[in-house]
Amino acid sequence: ERVSLWGGRFAGGPSEALAALSKSTHFDWRLAPYDIAGSRAHARVLHGAGLLDDPTLEAMLDALAVLATDVESGAFAPAEDDEDVHTALERGLIERAGADVGGRLRAGRSRNDQVATLFRMYLRDHARIVSGLILDVVQALVDQARAHIDVAMPGRTHLQHAQPVLLSHHLLAHAWPLLRDVQRLVDWDARTSLSPYGSGALAGSSLGLDPEAVAADLGFAGSIDNSIDGTASRDFVAEFCFVAAMTAVDISRLAEEVILWATKEFSFVTLDDAFSTGSSIMPQKKNPDVAELARGKAGRLVGDLAGLMTTLKALPLAYNRDLQEDKEPVFDAVDTLEVLLPAFSGMMATMTYHGERMASLAPQGFSLATDIAEWLVREGVPFRIAHEVAGACVRVCEERDIELWDLSDEDLAGISEHLTPGVREVLSVEGSLGSRDAKGGTAPARVTEQLADAAALLGEL
Ligand code: ARG
Repeated sequence: ERVSLWGGRFAGGPSEALAALSKSTHFDWRLAPYDIAGSRAHARVLHGAGLLDDPTLEAMLDALAVLATDVESGAFAPAEDDEDVHTALERGLIERAGADVGGRLRAGRSRNDQVATLFRMYLRDHARIVSGLILDVVQALVDQARAHIDVAMPGRTHLQHAQPVLLSHHLLAHAWPLLRDVQRLVDWDARTSLSPYGSGALAGSSLGLDPEAVAADLGFAGSIDNSIDGTASRDFVAEFCFVAAMTAVDISRLAEEVILWATKEFSFVTLDDAFSTGSSIMPQKKNPDVAELARGKAGRLVGDLAGLMTTLKALPLAYNRDLQEDKEPVFDAVDTLEVLLPAFSGMMATMTYHGERMASLAPQGFSLATDIAEWLVREGVPFRIAHEVAGACVRVCEERDIELWDLSDEDLAGISEHLTPGVREVLSVEGSLGSRDAKGGTAPARVTEQLADAAALLGEL
């Protein structure tokens, strides 16, 4: 017959079907090291409250140390009958310390406050790992921006040529959202740094245990203010999942551009062999699978967030078993980012940019028309008229299949009396880029400052 943690009140053990449904060791076992750390801290506060004498505390800590080693080596693993990581480790402790010592640890704690604490510990560790991996992508973007600081490219809106921009400006436009994702994780960590240990099942502990002591022992900044909130809230999980999904969505936007840039039609970049795949049938193929998987996995991370939010919706206080469903989505989000980001940063760091090709397309598609309009404004022409005049230039060029800079002095004068030959000073990519020199603009001097700011923030995070 199955053993459970609640033998006293029950005449028989759980059915096979219930046990199979209830079981979570196949996914929560990764919390085992945190559970053992929590048990150590809990043993110390039981001792502090006079509920464990010195030899018992020592025996308990020794047994927990052996258990930790056995978990790490795989010598101790969950058994068929263990419901969850907490149940399995209690069995492991009792096997090592005996029932008299091992059976004392459960006083004043519940799996409800245990799991809420361990999950925070696990996520805080992985938020640091994920942050480091996001910063590797940012580093690759900053390095490539620095290496291509003066390369011009077509800036687009609606995927149509809009105005020339610097490639470095464009790459940094992908870096800033990723830096904000890391800042989000830093902010999240400050909110998540409160330990629920000591909340018990929901109402707190009557045994004189000090939650602040456990919290400090486990590396938290403090303990939570409300035991119901401590055991029932999972907004810290949802917020983590949001940042994970946002990061993946940010990455997917860059991935989509890489996929386009690597096409024959764009020919803006060549992917390194180490970060491209071939085809089993078409010998010539070189495919951007890393970028495509990044684009695809963003959908999966959004799904993780949506699934979790749906689980949490309308759950009454305090703990409900539904909350066991909080783990798989966020574990999936963590695992996905931890495998995706290293490949993605590697791809970005090793990509070759074809600067001449990009620069040659920068003025195409009449992308300097706005420069004509703004030149006219500087000459004192109202923008409404300037916009029409520049539009007329585009129409004439389109009819004659020429570019804006091919218009003769007579053509210009024929379009508008305001169009003197002086307008030619802005009819070049360099002139256009250089003129956008307010803070945040694509002028080379501003982008150089921006690059330094991004690199400084990267160094701080
Ligand atoms: N395994 C559960 C979870 O992940 C913790 C156990 C709480 N179970 C209970 N019946 N109160 O949420």
